[in-house]
Amino acid sequence: MLADVLPYLRCPVCGGDLAGGERVIRCTAGHSFDVARQGYAGLLTGDARAGTADTAAMVAARVEFLDGGHFAPLADLIAERAAAAAPAEGCVLDAGAGTGYHLGAVLDRLPGRYGVALDVSKHALRRAARAHPRAGALTWDVWRPLPVRTGSVGVLLDVFAPRNAGEFHRVLRPDGILLVATPAAHHLDELVGPLGLLTVDPRKAERVADTLGERFAPAGTWPLELPLRLTHGQVASLVAMGPSAWHTDPEALRGRITALAEPVRVTAAFEVRVFDSRDES
Ligand SMILES: C[S@@+](CC[C@H](N)C(=O)[O-])C[C@H]1O[C@@H](n2cnc3c(N)ncnc32)[C@H](O)[C@@H]1O
Ligand SMILES: [Zn+2]
Repeated sequence: MLADVLPYLRCPVCGGDLAGGERVIRCTAGHSFDVARQGYAGLLTGDARAGTADTAAMVAARVEFLDGGHFAPLADLIAERAAAAAPAEGCVLDAGAGTGYHLGAVLDRLPGRYGVALDVSKHALRRAARAHPRAGALTWDVWRPLPVRTGSVGVLLDVFAPRNAGEFHRVLRPDGILLVATPAAHHLDELVGPLGLLTVDPRKAERVADTLGERFAPAGTWPLELPLRLTHGQVASLVAMGPSAWHTDPEALRGRITALAEPVRVTAAFEVRVFDSRDES
């Protein structure tokens, strides 16, 4: 675990300062947390487990697909918007960071800044811990009070992950930004029917704005469409890394994918939104 990120964190039990690094992290009151061999810190202790953690198979599919560079323009857009609006201070916190792919892209654009990847999936964190030399990774459930100091975050990333508006607001600096990426309503439209995928709620953008509304002010929306030409294997990875992985039978899916004409033409569609933190008054 990267010691440089500890000043941005707090003990999840008592809120105290954390110190340590290689093997274990301790707070001033003696609460201690193991650092896994793969480099992430296990701050979420006990039997608390979010059922929404990505599985090993989902993470493997995500690594495979993202390594192919198909979503690189999305990472570029996120990094560009983060760099354009980031305040001069504060860390970059990636909530539901997955493999840390987007956090890595943002840190590349913000030299000298540190990043914290937070996720409930250990499989994802094994990757996130190595995502960038200036990033540290830890197990956490975003629905719990975050083990992050109040006002310590300059850029908060939430890319296809759950959003805890109250906690996001608390940890952000007053001049910090929240950057949210969601799939657009027509994301992967061409695959929805043939493969029986879940559809994106057409009111998604509205719901995001509703949950953030009281504490965050919209500062811009950037839509992005990526026309992709994929092999059957790439389509399988794309489906296996997303929410439909929870609801589709892998065997049946394989059969349906094989029936598609190759290369498979599909449109990935996203919306990247930047929000400013509102005053608490
Ligand atoms: C669709 S993936 C996106 C990962 C990453 N942001 C990306 O774009 O590659 C959603 C991630 O959120 C994580 N997640 C789900 N529920 C969570 C929770 N309650 N707290 C923290 N992470 C969570 C999953 O384990 C998964 O890694
Ligand atoms: Zn403590």
